[in-house]
Amino acid sequence: MISAPGMEVLLSAAELQAKVRELAAQIDRDYAGKDLMLLCILRGGVIFLADLMRALTLRHTVEFMAVSSYGAGARESSGQVRITFDLASSITGRNVLVVEDIIDSGRTLASVLDLLRARQPRSLEVCVLLDKTERREVMIPIRYRGFSIPDRYVFGFGLDIDEYYRNLPHVAVWKEKPAGPA
Ligand code: IMP
Ligand code: MG
Repeated sequence: MISAPGMEVLLSAAELQAKVRELAAQIDRDYAGKDLMLLCILRGGVIFLADLMRALTLRHTVEFMAVSSYGAGARESSGQVRITFDLASSITGRNVLVVEDIIDSGRTLASVLDLLRARQPRSLEVCVLLDKTERREVMIPIRYRGFSIPDRYVFGFGLDIDEYYRNLPHVAVWKEKPAGPA
């Protein structure tokens, strides 16, 4: 397995898989008898989506969308999003469940939801694996939440550091330097 000095496991593969099964069971119950489209926001949501959809017993379709933030730094989002890869099919009249890796300020997802709402889905809900609750600037109704996590940069299980490490089976952080005299 990939590892590097200072890399620490925040959420183990077993914890993640247990949570995926728990979320899938809730989604199975809530959407029983209904049509469902999972909409994955690329690229971070892709591992979560792949595991979640296989844990669902419900019949559903999947779609993908990619967005990028205008004028954002590498690790901060501006909130102004531009669609770089749009859905291949219409969401009008569908029950759409957006599958996201992480919510930080909430700006990215807030804009994505505005764009999607304009297309008049029958329903629009959010399923997010990781929530940096204390960083929230824009309120977002989250129907399904995996874990609330502290304000630290995380990677693995779909999340990247400069596009690398998405393939880790766990969610990792870099070990914090011990506090001490400068
Ligand atoms: P927001 O618009 O501030 O909520 O930022 C959300 C996006 O920033 C996510 O979809 C991720 O792409 C990225 N992001 C935020 N925090 C992290 C992190 O800790 N690791 C990796 N990507 C992150
Ligand atoms: Mg994302």
